[in-house]
Amino acid sequence: MSTLTVMPSGQSFDVAEGTTLLAALLGAEIAIPHKCEGNAKCGSCHIYVQEGRKGLSKIAREENERLDTIVGIGSKSRLACQAKVLGTENIKIELLSFGSGV
Ligand code: FES
Repeated sequence: MSTLTVMPSGQSFDVAEGTTLLAALLGAEIAIPHKCEGNAKCGSCHIYVQEGRKGLSKIAREENERLDTIVGIGSKSRLACQAKVLGTENIKIELLSFGSGV
């Protein structure tokens, strides 16, 4: 179990190990774009991880390739649909304004 804090609202809640950030956000009724329904194909679920990066699954090739196509990515960028909570660290993410994906 990890605590997920979502900025800029500061809302936080517990997330079970193995849950993607996208599923956690949608489960908490936090709006986040997910045009391809979590298949690493659209990039609309791009978020920044501010704290606890080691508490998330590693970036796989498919996610990395999609991130490469997004304007404004940085070292903290992840796709919420691909990043799974490992349950080892608390995590803080920042949501982007809608429409930042491809
Ligand atoms: S929902 Fe499309 S890449 Fe995450």
